[in-house]
Amino acid sequence: MTDMANPGRKDFVNTEAVAPTTLKPAFELCVRKVHGNIQRLADEPKAAPWALDGNYFVHPEGFFEIGNWTSSFFTGMALLAWRATGDEYYLQQTLRLAPAYREKAGARFLDMHHDAGFLYSLYSIALYKLTGDQEHRETGLRAAEALAQRFNEKGNFIRAWGRIDESISPIGPVGLRTDNMAIIDGLMNLPLLYWAANETGRQKYFDIAVRHADMVLKHFIRPDYSVAHAIRFDLDTGLPSAVDNYCGFSKDSYWARGASWAIYGFALSYGYTRDRKYRDASVRLAKEFLAQLDEEVVPVWDFRLPPEMPKVRDASAAAVTVCGLQALAKHQAADKELVVAKNRLLERICRADYLDTNLNCPGVLKSAYGDKPAYSSWGDYFLMEALAGELGMGEPFW
Ligand code: GLY
Repeated sequence: MTDMANPGRKDFVNTEAVAPTTLKPAFELCVRKVHGNIQRLADEPKAAPWALDGNYFVHPEGFFEIGNWTSSFFTGMALLAWRATGDEYYLQQTLRLAPAYREKAGARFLDMHHDAGFLYSLYSIALYKLTGDQEHRETGLRAAEALAQRFNEKGNFIRAWGRIDESISPIGPVGLRTDNMAIIDGLMNLPLLYWAANETGRQKYFDIAVRHADMVLKHFIRPDYSVAHAIRFDLDTGLPSAVDNYCGFSKDSYWARGASWAIYGFALSYGYTRDRKYRDASVRLAKEFLAQLDEEVVPVWDFRLPPEMPKVRDASAAAVTVCGLQALAKHQAADKELVVAKNRLLERICRADYLDTNLNCPGVLKSAYGDKPAYSSWGDYFLMEALAGELGMGEPFW
């Protein structure tokens, strides 16, 4: 069936759930690959966030480097593997990293971006939820406090990058100012604050999360439900001063993975707050995202590329979106179109052209890093989370 208003776009016709014969081998592949990956990470806490050939251990980024936001995609996969298999190996390897996580959230908390949410939701919070061990609760709470300290009261935003005692980032482009900037990815860090609010009863954490989420609704989401990557603020007035971009094609473009962070991020905020405006935003963002897809199903990495640019696909954006659609379905907010799209996206990235079944390759999903075809640790993680969700293996850790 073809949409006559958009003849290049085939409507989704598959309303069936993805077959277990597709889901189970893909999940098993993730389990088998993280077996080696988690041990390598625990032996030496270094791994590249992405790799052209899927080998995350060739040009590794240290866990304590300020820009590291991806180590926990390996630990998150290991804990999904432990929960599914009961094999203590995965837990024991993950626990070897506990001192490093404790140190990063403690003495070294200044050397962490807003990605405390990505890092600690898939480590300390996941471990606490699975084991009940208070040590992980304490570390998670320290990470939440570190994240809360990045909140800018006037602008209602959590500062994305850089140490909070410096205004210029020591990494990335020389002289890049970071004290006045929030990015769309930050929505995925809010569950750490909601969790801390629930654990401690401290309203402060809840309020910061809600104020940041409301700011994103107001300033990042465009009237057509595309999203901006970054917004800068005037620190004197707290008002937005400029749109900026470091991940999409341009300031005005429509970065697919940024939209995915927003779809899932708002669905998660709805889960913690039950505020319908987050649920509705997630649904509208998802529908606009789906309207951009063509017969390949997997999104182009940016939906507003100039025609001469190669249409590199970002399977990680597909995986994150599937997780967001699963969250909407759990909250009875996914209509038939969204459920069908969830199944279609997941089924598509489980096919041989996206899934790497070579067990010698650490990477699982041939996804994308910006405009480069690559493997990414986050793509692998969200694929495995999506598969676990579809197979009924329990709640996500966020
Ligand atoms: N959070 C960084 C990215 O999605 O590339």
